[in-house]
Amino acid sequence: MRKETQKEMAAKAAALYVRDGMTLGLGTGSTAYYFIREAGAMAAKGFRFRAVVTSKKSRELALAFHIPVISPEETEFIDLAIDGVDEIDKDFCAVKGGGGALLREKIVASKAHEVIWIMDESKLVDRLGAFPLPVEVLPFGSRWTADAAKRLGGDVRLRCVEGRPYRTDNGNAILDMTFPQRTDYRTADRELRRIPGVLETGFFDAICSRIIVGGRDGVREILNPERVCMTAMDESF
Ligand code: A5P
Repeated sequence: MRKETQKEMAAKAAALYVRDGMTLGLGTGSTAYYFIREAGAMAAKGFRFRAVVTSKKSRELALAFHIPVISPEETEFIDLAIDGVDEIDKDFCAVKGGGGALLREKIVASKAHEVIWIMDESKLVDRLGAFPLPVEVLPFGSRWTADAAKRLGGDVRLRCVEGRPYRTDNGNAILDMTFPQRTDYRTADRELRRIPGVLETGFFDAICSRIIVGGRDGVREILNPERVCMTAMDESF
C-alpha cells in the first residue's frame, strides 16, 4: 500500500476525535495535509470548530478548506492538536521539523489538552537517529551557534534551499543535526537549549497521548499510557 494512502487513513481515523465546538491545533506537513482536508470536509457538513495553525502553509490550506483560523492570542488553550512526525520511537519520543515548523508545532502542542500524531508506518523506529534533528536558531550568529552545537558531537548542517539558507515562517535558520548512534536525545536536547541562539529543537519528548499509524494491515492506534487524555477517558466510561 502506498505511503500516501497510509497517511490518509491515519488522518481519517484522527478526524473521529474531533468534536463540535473544539479549538484544534493544525500541524504541518504532508500527513497533516490529509487531516486538514478531512477537517475541511467536516466543516462543510456543519461541524463547528476553529483552528490555530502551525505554519503559513497550513494556514493557506485551512482557509482553502473553509476552516476558521484564529491566532494563539484568541484562545487560552487548544482542545486537540493533530500533527505528523518525522520519526518516533516506542517511548513516543519524536523528531519533528522536517518541514521547518517545529517551533510553532511545539508551542501549539504544549497548549493542547490532547495531542495526536498521525503517520504512515515508516515513521516508527526502534531508535531515533535516521532523520536529522532540526534545530531552529536565530540567524544572528548562526555560525557560532552551529560551532557550539558541533561540540556536542555530531554532524551539523545549515539547512539550505537552492543554495541559500532556509528561513522558517519565523524568519529563523535551521540546523539539521545527525548524532552518533545511541545518543541520548533528552540529554542532547537539554545541552542544545543551553546554547545561546538556539530557539527550539525538533525533539518532542513523549508529548502525545495517542499515535495513529496507517499501515499495510490497516490503521493502528497506540495510546501513550503516561499521558492522561480525554479520548482515553471517553473510551473507559
Ligand atoms: C513539520 O515541520 C514537521 O514537523 C512535520 O510534521 C513532519 O515533518 C512530518 O511531515 P510529513 O507528514 O510530511 O512526513
